[in-house]
Amino acid sequence: MNLRSVLVACGVLCLLTSCNQPAEKKSENAAVGFDYGADVEAMIAGMSIEEKVGQMTQINIDVISTGEIYNLVEPHTLDSVKLDSAVNHYFVGSILNVGGHTYTRDHWKEIITAIQTKATQEGNTIPILYGIDAIHGVNYTVGATLFPQQIGQAATWNPDLVGEGASITAYECRASGIPWNFSPVLDIGRQPLWSRFFETYGEDVYLAKCMTDAVITGYQGDDPSNPEKVAACMKHFLGYSTPLSGKDRTPAWIPKRQLHEYYLPTFEKAIERNALTVMINSGEVNGIPVHANHDILTTLLRDELGFKGLAVTDWEDIMKLYKDHRIAKDMREAVKMAIEAGIDMSMTPNDYSFNHALIDLVKSGEVAESRLDLSCRRILWVKKQLGILESPMPNFGAYDKFASIEHRQAALATAEESITLLKNTENLLPLDKSANILVCGPAAHSLNIQNGAWTHTWQGVDTAYNTAGVKTIYESLEKYSEGHVDYVLGSSLFEQIDIPKAVQAARNADVIVVCLGEIPSTEKPGDIDDLNLPPAQGKLVKELSKLGKPVVFALVFNRPLIIREIEPLANAILQCYLPGDYGGEALARILYGEVNPSGKLPFTYPRYTGTFVPYDHKYTETLDKTFGRNAFNPQWEFGFGLSYSRFEYNNLKLDSDAYAKDGQIQVSFTVTNSSDRPGKEVVQVYITDMVASITPSVKRLRAFEKIAIGAQDSVEVNMRIPISELSFVGKDNLWVIQEGEFVLNVADNSVTFEVK
Ligand code: BGC
Repeated sequence: MNLRSVLVACGVLCLLTSCNQPAEKKSENAAVGFDYGADVEAMIAGMSIEEKVGQMTQINIDVISTGEIYNLVEPHTLDSVKLDSAVNHYFVGSILNVGGHTYTRDHWKEIITAIQTKATQEGNTIPILYGIDAIHGVNYTVGATLFPQQIGQAATWNPDLVGEGASITAYECRASGIPWNFSPVLDIGRQPLWSRFFETYGEDVYLAKCMTDAVITGYQGDDPSNPEKVAACMKHFLGYSTPLSGKDRTPAWIPKRQLHEYYLPTFEKAIERNALTVMINSGEVNGIPVHANHDILTTLLRDELGFKGLAVTDWEDIMKLYKDHRIAKDMREAVKMAIEAGIDMSMTPNDYSFNHALIDLVKSGEVAESRLDLSCRRILWVKKQLGILESPMPNFGAYDKFASIEHRQAALATAEESITLLKNTENLLPLDKSANILVCGPAAHSLNIQNGAWTHTWQGVDTAYNTAGVKTIYESLEKYSEGHVDYVLGSSLFEQIDIPKAVQAARNADVIVVCLGEIPSTEKPGDIDDLNLPPAQGKLVKELSKLGKPVVFALVFNRPLIIREIEPLANAILQCYLPGDYGGEALARILYGEVNPSGKLPFTYPRYTGTFVPYDHKYTETLDKTFGRNAFNPQWEFGFGLSYSRFEYNNLKLDSDAYAKDGQIQVSFTVTNSSDRPGKEVVQVYITDMVASITPSVKRLRAFEKIAIGAQDSVEVNMRIPISELSFVGKDNLWVIQEGEFVLNVADNSVTFEVK
C-alpha cells in the first residue's frame, strides 16, 4: 500500500477566516469614511439632482426597445427615441436584462455599443452599467457555456471547480459586453418547497460559505477592472430563502440569532472577498419588508459588515412597498422609505416613477441631496472598479475562448462531479456498454429540464433557443452505448406520458432508465403546494417495475420531490440536480463507468412532504420511535453519496484532547480506497457540542475536502480547524465559544475533546 500524505489547510482556505466574528461587532472596514476617490467626488460635484437620481435608476431593456413592455417587436431592436430619453432626459445609471429571450453575441455587441456610444457622448457622459442574470453560465447569450445550477455546483463539494466555473462565466459575460452579474444567490436553502431552492448552495452554512469564497473570487478576481472579470451581486440580502408558506416572496419569520448564525455568514464571507454589489430581498422578514428595513440595510450591512459597494433593489420592489406590502400609501412615500433604509439603486424597472418621486423628495427638502451623493459615490465607485469609466466600450474581438472546448470541458467536469449516486443495489452500476437500454420519462430528452429556469428565457421552458449540438440524456446514452438505446416519452416538456408504449418498449430492454423531471420554473411561477412527484411519473415507474427488469432513476428536479413510495422499485438512483447543457453527457459517462460518481447531497432529501428537518437539527428532532419524536427521518442525509469505489476510514486522531478557545484542532485520519477503481471522496468532519446554553445541533459540518484516491491506495488527511469555528450565536445574540465536551466525527469514527 502506497501511503501518500495530504496536508489540507483547514479543509479549505475559508476555514481560516470563517464565522468567528461577533454578530454585533463593528467592522474595522466600515464603509463610513471610506474614500471613494477624488475622481468620483469631482464627478458628483458637477452633477445636478436629476443626474444624481438618474445614476440611481436602473431600467429594464424593454424601456428602451421597440414595441411595448413585455411585448417587444421581434427581432429585437433598440428604440432610438426611448434611448435618447433614457440618456438625455433621465441620465439613467444602469440597464438590465434581455427582452424576453437570449441574444447572440453580435446582438449584444450592437446593444452595448449603441448604449455606451450614446451615454458617453450625450447626457452627462457617464457610461452605463449593464447588468444581467448569468446564474449558471451566461444563460442569456446564445451558445454560452452552461453549468449546473448552483445546487448542483454545491453537490460537487469542490470549490475549485465552482471557482473555475465562475471565472468562465465572468469571461463569457464580458465577452457579451456585460460587466455586472446578478449572481450568486447566497440565501441558504433550508426550505425545499421554495421555487428558488435550486439557485442556492443548499442547507449548510459552512459548505455554502466555501462556495461563496470560490464564486466571488472566480467572478471578480483580484481586480474586477480586468476585462475578463465582472462585479458579483450577492443575492438577496437578507432572509429571502425561508418563506414560512414556502411560496416565493411571502413572509419569513427568522429570529435574530438564526438570521446571524445561518443566513448572514455567506454574505459576510462575500463582503470579506470584496463583492462589489448586493441585491435586496424582495420579501419581508419579521413583519418588515427588507427594502424598508434600516436595521438590515444600513446598521447591519454598512455599519457592522462594512459593505462599501452598491445596493440595488430587486424587481419593482420599491413600488411593491405600497402595492403589495402596504407599508406606504404611494410611490413617493415608498421611495422615501427605501432611500432612508439605505438602497442606492432602484431596479424600477419599467418606468421612471422612481425618478419623479425622488427628485420631488429632494427638491421639497424631505430627502437631503447629500443622501443622493452617498449612493452616487458607491455607484460611480463600482463603475470605476469595473474599469468602465475609463473604457466603456468592450473589445468584443478579444474573447476567442467564448464557448470553447476548454470551457465546455469545465462545465462537463462540474456536472460529472455533482451527480450523486444515492442507491446502487448489488452494484447494478456501472452498466455494461452492450446492454440494451430503454430510456424514458420527461427528463430523458429535454435540455430545458436539464438546465431549469434562467436558461435562454426567464422560466427556461422555450425550446427554440437551446444550445445547438448539445446532447440530452437520451442522446448522450446513444453516444456512449455500444448496445441499443431506445427512447420513449417526453419529447416535449408537457407531453402526456404514454405508459403502455413505454412498457411495451421496455420488454426488449436489459435495463430501464427512468428520467424523472420537473418542468423548469422559478420565482412566483415556480410556487407549488407540496413536494409530491407528479402522479403520472410514479405510475410510469410502477408499471415498468412489474416487468422485473433492473430500473435506474435519474432525478432531474428543481427541488427534492418525494419519491418514498417508488424508491424501493429502483435498483439504482442518481440525483442529477439541474446539471446544465453537459449534464446528459455527464450522466451517461457515470452510468457506463467512464466517470466514478463523487457528488454528495448539499441538502437533506426529505422522505415526507410535510417534514423538512435539516441535518443540523436539534436533539428533540431526532428519530425516537418510543416517544414518537421522529422529526428527522429523511430519505437521504445531507452529505450522502455513494461511489463505485469503497472507502474506509482509519486512525482518527487529534493532536490534543483539550484546546483553548483561541486554539486550533489538528485532526488526522487515513482514507483507503479498497476497490480496484480510482475514485474521489469528500471527507467530511462534523463536530457535536455536547452541552450548550442554546440547544446544540446534533452535529455541524466544520471542515471538508474532496480528495482523489487511486485504486488500492491510501491517503493520510491532515486538517486544522480553529476552535472559533465552534462558536454559535448565544442568548444575547453575540457569537460565543463555550467550554465543555465536544465530539468530532469522520464517517463512522469519532473522538472526544474538550474546550477549556
Ligand atoms: C429576481 C432577481 C433577479 C432580478 C433581475 C428578480 O425578479 O428576484 O434574482 O436578479 O429579477 O432579473
